[in-house]
Amino acid sequence: MSKEGVDVGKRRFLTTATAAVGGVGAAFVATPFIKSWMPSARARAAGAPVEVNIAALEEGALVSVTWRGKPVWVVRRTPEMLETLDEVAGELADPDSKAEQQPEYCQNKYRSIKEPVLVMVGICTHLGCSPKYRPEASGGQLDYPGFFCPCHGSHYDISGRVYASQPAPLNMVVPPHRYESDDLIVVGEDPGQGEEAA
Ligand code: FES
Repeated sequence: MSKEGVDVGKRRFLTTATAAVGGVGAAFVATPFIKSWMPSARARAAGAPVEVNIAALEEGALVSVTWRGKPVWVVRRTPEMLETLDEVAGELADPDSKAEQQPEYCQNKYRSIKEPVLVMVGICTHLGCSPKYRPEASGGQLDYPGFFCPCHGSHYDISGRVYASQPAPLNMVVPPHRYESDDLIVVGEDPGQGEEAA
């Protein structure tokens, strides 16, 4: 047996053995990654869009649904409420909603797609408490309709824009949403999204 023949045989054995071990190793390593790429049914359900039918929602009323574990409020504002948006603008921290607290299509004073209908995550931007809805000016707390967070006293207008010099630094969040029809809102999807599946 030549020296050269032995070396080649050993090299082939080692190459085969390494490839086999590498393959087994890859199989063990790949399993957890594949699992993590595929969210569980519960996780998918938790992030799924939520439909809200507002056919019966009266002017001035608020309905709350849960989306991604958070309260999402839908408020049908009255014409009188909408008039106050200009009146309070000078007292707000970010009246033009320049901070990214809403989708682009809601960057207006109504912070909504349709002027009367506000869709907003009902969580204060200070420490995450849930503010109270105040549809009317209520002695000492708010001079205009809006939202009041009792724990640290932050005030928001009826579009969820925070007043200046409050503990809360930002306007409340407007989530992505779209209209499936005049009365059906899908929270969690942008306009145009998911329509092929509908
Ligand atoms: S959590 Fe709302 S003011 Fe502090």
